[in-house]
Amino acid sequence: MTIILNTIEEKSVLEQISNLIQDNEREIVNTSDMKIAHCVGCNQCWLKTPGVCAIKDDYESILKKLVKADNLWLVSDTRFGFLDYKGKRIMDRIMPMLNMTIGFRDGWMRHELRYHALNIGLLYKGNAEQTMMEDWCKRTAANIGGHSLGAIPLTDTTDTTPTTLNSKLSTLNTQLSHLVIINGSPRVAKFSNTDKIIHSFAKGLEEAGVTWELHNLSNRKEWDAAREAFINNERTLMAFPLYVECVPGLMLEFLETLPTEHKQPKELSFLLHGGMDEGNEFRLCERFLQGLPAQLGCSYGGTLIHGGSFRIRTAPADQVAKIVTPYIEMGLLFAQKGNFLSPEAARFTGMEQYPWLIRKMVSMLFLKKVNGEFERFAKDWGCTRPLGDKPYSE
Ligand SMILES: Cc1cc2nc3c(=O)[nH]c(=O)nc-3n(C[C@H](O)[C@H](O)[C@H](O)COP(=O)(O)O)c2cc1C
Repeated sequence: MTIILNTIEEKSVLEQISNLIQDNEREIVNTSDMKIAHCVGCNQCWLKTPGVCAIKDDYESILKKLVKADNLWLVSDTRFGFLDYKGKRIMDRIMPMLNMTIGFRDGWMRHELRYHALNIGLLYKGNAEQTMMEDWCKRTAANIGGHSLGAIPLTDTTDTTPTTLNSKLSTLNTQLSHLVIINGSPRVAKFSNTDKIIHSFAKGLEEAGVTWELHNLSNRKEWDAAREAFINNERTLMAFPLYVECVPGLMLEFLETLPTEHKQPKELSFLLHGGMDEGNEFRLCERFLQGLPAQLGCSYGGTLIHGGSFRIRTAPADQVAKIVTPYIEMGLLFAQKGNFLSPEAARFTGMEQYPWLIRKMVSMLFLKKVNGEFERFAKDWGCTRPLGDKPYSE
């Protein structure tokens, strides 16, 4: 069975979909007619009601179709050279198809599958960067145990401007005195791992005498102030968690509201973190971020990358401190340099992939402990089902 999730409203796209995907057993779902919210990272689909999303909107009907499908085609418009927020939002909500427990698959650390493998393809409109779209498809499909069906551009003559995937590197040589920090996590600030990382990072800024202000995108009421701060200050740092191989859909929606021309030079830097430990996990998103500032009329101040943050939510306080404390040093570094373009910032990521022997050891010792930690956390949340439950049987 092939499910086609179409996020584009234009009727002409439907004809192209029909011509391009000629599977006899296919179903096209037009999501622009549906009520679908952003994933807010609440983790209930993993730890409280395994496999069932806490957001009660039209996505549940999609999940019920996905558990019966072998192939998923996403049809999406693009922005900043990548999926637009409507397309990304659909994929961010796919989490109930996975289980929170982790293991190694094909040599990489990944979540275990709740159901079966799903192959993923992309039909996209606009002038996105082809290799980026192909790579995102490959990575996303691998996360859900399947393979890529390919990334195919739809015929689209409205916009032919090439998307720049390289921004000018840091152009500001003024001393950093104040930093605007935007938390791009969709999870409420109180529970956001990014928030804890930011506060540790900011200790380093404060030690160096740099002032800072924080705006959270999880609260839409803060969007106007975040935009104003971005417009009125030289340097902005966007800190956020990796969501399905790239920027969370919610953050993409905010980015679409930012102006792209400025009176004064402006610089954007990024702090990117995520659940998995391996540096390679973040490289596609990093590529996206390298091109993003140019499209917002800014120069690029680099990206600080580090994994292993998903346990901040569930681990005991001493271990949380171990995860977030190294960011103080990075705050100091940023205060000195004004950006993350230094070799010290690059080294902060750590290893790209666990070597074979370490993978074996991590599987045997560490992952058992971590997966047990999830079980205990779920119990505390009142979860009465096994974490690997399949509420919409295959
Ligand atoms: C919808 C969703 C998608 C995610 N995708 C990834 C991913 O592709 N790779 C990864 O390493 N972590 C992924 N994560 C884990 C988050 O990056 C990680 O838990 C992070 O610490 C959350 O930060 P926050 O609490 O500030 O939102 C994902 C989490 C969610 C909720």
